[in-house]
Amino acid sequence: MAALLRALRADITTLAVDAIVNAANSSLLGGGGVDGAIHRVAGPELLRECRLLGGCETGDAKITKGYRLPARHVIHAVGPVWRGGTSCEPALLASCYRRSLEIGYHHGFATMAFPSISTGIYGYPVELAAQVAVAAVRTSLPTVVAMREIIFCCFSWNDLLVYERVLGR
Ligand code: AR6
Repeated sequence: MAALLRALRADITTLAVDAIVNAANSSLLGGGGVDGAIHRVAGPELLRECRLLGGCETGDAKITKGYRLPARHVIHAVGPVWRGGTSCEPALLASCYRRSLEIGYHHGFATMAFPSISTGIYGYPVELAAQVAVAAVRTSLPTVVAMREIIFCCFSWNDLLVYERVLGR
């Protein structure tokens, strides 16, 4: 059976899933927004492991353990900075979701949660990003057969409305 896709309003650092996805930057050495929140809750061991990863290209993702988070793992994805939409932003954003799911699939995960990658500090309009995110996840679903639930974790009620609309609820 295909995984269930749903949107939820929550702090992603509270979710006890197999992996939460981090909206990181290419250094993978932490930052603000959801990245800062994840590092704060996970503790300093997370940064120690991130230092060993050698950074990450935009559109790609890398996995670490979750340390003190309720989630067992963190998949650090690097979204694009919004530059008006003509600098491959949609393809790079879709790639973040696809690569994160591939990594989750290879680790046998059943539950994953994504934040709204790139729509904070990186300035990607949330309506456009939600369309890319949902389409990319739906396209990947046939290749991640063991996945039971994929959560779009929204930090604001407005983002939740946007994602629910795009999901067709
Ligand atoms: N739980 C869920 N979502 C959250 C949380 C949280 N605890 N905190 C923020 N968000 P952003 P970006 C939402 O700025 O745009 C960092 O410095 C937030 O409301 O975290 O991809 C990195 O190191 C928004 O909807 O990530 C990079 O340098 C979404 O998460 C840069 O920011 C993404 O916002 C990445 O920027």
